[in-house]
Amino acid sequence: MTDLFEKCREFFTDPAYAEALGYPASPQRAKDLGIYAFFIPLDRSEGTEVTIGGRKLIMLGSNNYLGLTMHPDVRRAASEAVGTFGTSCTGSRFLNGTLALHGELEQRLATYVGKEKALVFTTGYQANLGTLSSLVGRGDIVLCDKEDHASIVDGCRLALGRMVRFRHNDFADLDRVLAKCSDGAGRLVVVDGVFSMGGDIALLPDLVRVCRAHGARLMVDDAHGIGVVGRGRGTSAHYGVTDEVDLIVGTFSKSLASIGGFVAGDESTICWIQHAARSLMFSASLPAPNVAAALAALDVLEREPERVDRVNRVAERMRNAYRDLGFDIGESQTPIVPIFVGDSLKAMHVWRSLFDAGIYVNVAIPPAVPPGKALLRTSYMATHTDEQMERVLDAFAAVGKRHGLIS
Ligand SMILES: Cc1ncc(COP(=O)(O)O)c(C=O)c1O
Repeated sequence: MTDLFEKCREFFTDPAYAEALGYPASPQRAKDLGIYAFFIPLDRSEGTEVTIGGRKLIMLGSNNYLGLTMHPDVRRAASEAVGTFGTSCTGSRFLNGTLALHGELEQRLATYVGKEKALVFTTGYQANLGTLSSLVGRGDIVLCDKEDHASIVDGCRLALGRMVRFRHNDFADLDRVLAKCSDGAGRLVVVDGVFSMGGDIALLPDLVRVCRAHGARLMVDDAHGIGVVGRGRGTSAHYGVTDEVDLIVGTFSKSLASIGGFVAGDESTICWIQHAARSLMFSASLPAPNVAAALAALDVLEREPERVDRVNRVAERMRNAYRDLGFDIGESQTPIVPIFVGDSLKAMHVWRSLFDAGIYVNVAIPPAVPPGKALLRTSYMATHTDEQMERVLDAFAAVGKRHGLIS
C-alpha cells in the first residue's frame, strides 16, 4: 500500500523528485543556491520600502497600487473599528457575522462600480469560489480565459458544470467555443478585467458582443482593475460597458488596502449567491477592522482621484523605460509590468541579483504561469518616488545585462 505522505517526504528530501514534478529546483536546493524567492519574512513594510534582514529594499512586488496601506485615515479607521467591534465577528455572514458596517460597504461598492447590489466575502478568492460554484450548476458551462486567475479556475472546479478554456484575450476563439455549446446549457464567461500576470486589459466590448450573440452571461474579476483603470471604477467603466457586464468581482487586498472581496450585480443574482455560496455561508465573515479599512480606502479613492492618475503615470514611465532598455514586457498596459525571462531557474537567479541590488520583485514560475514562460512580476504604486524609479531602472539595466536579458 502507498503511504499518502510519501510524496511529501520525497519532495522534501530528493531534489530530483521536485524537478521531475516540473519545479526548477526543490525548495531545499533553491535555498542552498540562495535563489528561493518565496515566503520571505519582511521585518517591516512601509509601502514602497520594506526591511528584510536589516536591509531596505524598494518594493516592486505589492498590489498596494494606490499606496493606501499606510494612509493615516485607513489606519485610523481600522484601529477605531478594533475598539468598537473587537477583532473578529466569530461567525459567518449568514448567521451572527453580519455587521451594519458590512452593509454600508456593500452599498458603497455597488454604487462605486455601478451595480444594484454587492455582497462582501472574506477574501476575493472566496468571492470567486462562492460566485462560480453557486451559479454554474449541473449541465451549465463556464468559459474561462486561459490566463484567468487561479481563484477563478478553482471556483470552476468546485462548480458542478463543465469548464472550457479559450485562448487568452481572443474573442474569436470564445465565439468558436460558444458556438459548440449545446443549446440547453446555461453559459457564463469569466475573465480577469486586468490580467494578474501580464497586466493587459480584457477586451470587454468584444467579449460583451460575443456573449450577447450566444446568450451567455459575463463576469469580470476586476481585482487589479478597481482603483487603477476607468478612473478607479474598473475595467467595465474604462470601456463604458458596465451595464453589459453582468457580474463584477473585486478584492480589497490590492487598491483598497485591506483584505476581503465582493461580487456586484443585479439584486436577484446577488440574493441567490447570498443563499447558495458555500464559501460565504460556511466561513467566518470579514472582521470589522478590515471592513473599516476598505471603506476608508474607498473614501480616499473617491476624494483623491489624482492617486489613480499618479499610479498610471508611474507605470507608463516604467513600461517605456523597460522597453527602451530592451526588456520583453509583453502586452502590459497597467501597473502590472512583467519582465519575461522564460526559463524558471534563470528567473530565480535574476530575482536573486535584483534582491542583492535592493529591489524586491515577485518571481512567477509554473504553475502560476505556463511552463517556459517564467517572469518577474513588477508592480507599481502611486507612492513610488521618481528617485526610487531611477534606482530601480539602474538596477534592472545592470542585472539584465549580467544575465543576458538585454544587450
Ligand atoms: C485576479 C485575481 N482575482 C482574485 C484574487 C484573490 O484575491 P484575494 O487576495 O482577495 O483572495 C486575486 C489575488 O491575487 C487576483 O489576482
